[in-house]
Amino acid sequence: LSQESQSVLSAYEWVTKLYHHLLRYAKDGKEGYHYLQARGLAEEAIDAFQLGFAPNAKDFTAEFLEKKGFHRQILVKAGLVSLLNDNSVSDRFRGRVIFPIRNHLGKTVAFGGRALGDDQEPKYLNSPESDLFQKGKLLFNFDLARKYIRKEGEAVLFEGYMDVISAYQADVRNVVATMGTSLTEYQAKLLKRYVNTVIICYDGDNAGVEATSKAADLLRTVGCEVKIARLKDGLDPDSFIQKYGKEAFQNEVIKASETFIAFYMRYHRQAYNLNLEGDRIKYIEKMLEQLAMIDSPVEREYYLKELSKEFDISLDTLAGELQTYQSRNG
Ligand code: UTP
Ligand code: MN
Ligand code: MN
Ligand code: MN
Ligand code: MN
Repeated sequence: LSQESQSVLSAYEWVTKLYHHLLRYAKDGKEGYHYLQARGLAEEAIDAFQLGFAPNAKDFTAEFLEKKGFHRQILVKAGLVSLLNDNSVSDRFRGRVIFPIRNHLGKTVAFGGRALGDDQEPKYLNSPESDLFQKGKLLFNFDLARKYIRKEGEAVLFEGYMDVISAYQADVRNVVATMGTSLTEYQAKLLKRYVNTVIICYDGDNAGVEATSKAADLLRTVGCEVKIARLKDGLDPDSFIQKYGKEAFQNEVIKASETFIAFYMRYHRQAYNLNLEGDRIKYIEKMLEQLAMIDSPVEREYYLKELSKEFDISLDTLAGELQTYQSRNG
């Protein structure tokens, strides 16, 4: 690591402690504490994730760090403060709840700062990318989740910070998040190094479903088995847990996650008008193409039967067709 990166890491460490301390113990952080409390977070989770609050002041953070001996250029470089035209400085995070983003070694390499209001833009302000932090190369909470991922033989993949923290509180700890952006090949390979099965549990809105399909393709490409956890009512994992509780999340979402192919069948249905013969045939062909790639004969037969029932085509005919796809795959 360069001297500069080491200084940035050290500044982040101070700031993590500062913001966490303010949120937990100071008047200046009360707003943040009440915000998280209202969202159902207990002190244990707040401490485990070192959540904090950046006060709504012009240069509170800048002043704190300059007193600790950090040079301005480092703070600007770290994305903690910006330099204004009149040569004064201004804090980047103001009046926001702070989520420290840790790398695989548990060191804070960036922050996500959430606005207190739901109509404020951006909802989350993140640290800029740097040598230390590239969004596409890091999974939020990987450092804490790693041992649980190994133990369970499964990893659960979320979109957001709060999903991870709510799941942690619900005693589901083999959990990481992509932080909104789509899963990258780098992240997929990182997961594959630790685990064979990944449960994708993205938000139940349209964007979440689209992202699920893309992430599933990528994970399968790198050799992971993929399962999909579904959330009803367009909820996200955090809002599901707050609404229905921890048992419902464990049993009706995580344990009840469906196979990739079941998701695939449902997902592609929307693209076809199954009342039209041409579409029906295209749909069946697409499904056979996927079924041909399934290793388990039991699973293959199960879905073949589903197709057979639904479209009133004999199992023999479908099985014959499936074989031509399988021989194509070699
Ligand atoms: P979501 O929009 O689903 O937010 O974005 P959320 O996690 O449910 O947040 P809450 O519950 O409203 O607080 C998913 C993730 O995308 C990233 C964050 O990592 C967020 O957790 N994101 C989202 C940003 O970085 N910036 C944004 O403005 C929005
Ligand atoms: Mn603490
Ligand atoms: Mn979302
Ligand atoms: Mn969400
Ligand atoms: Mn949410």
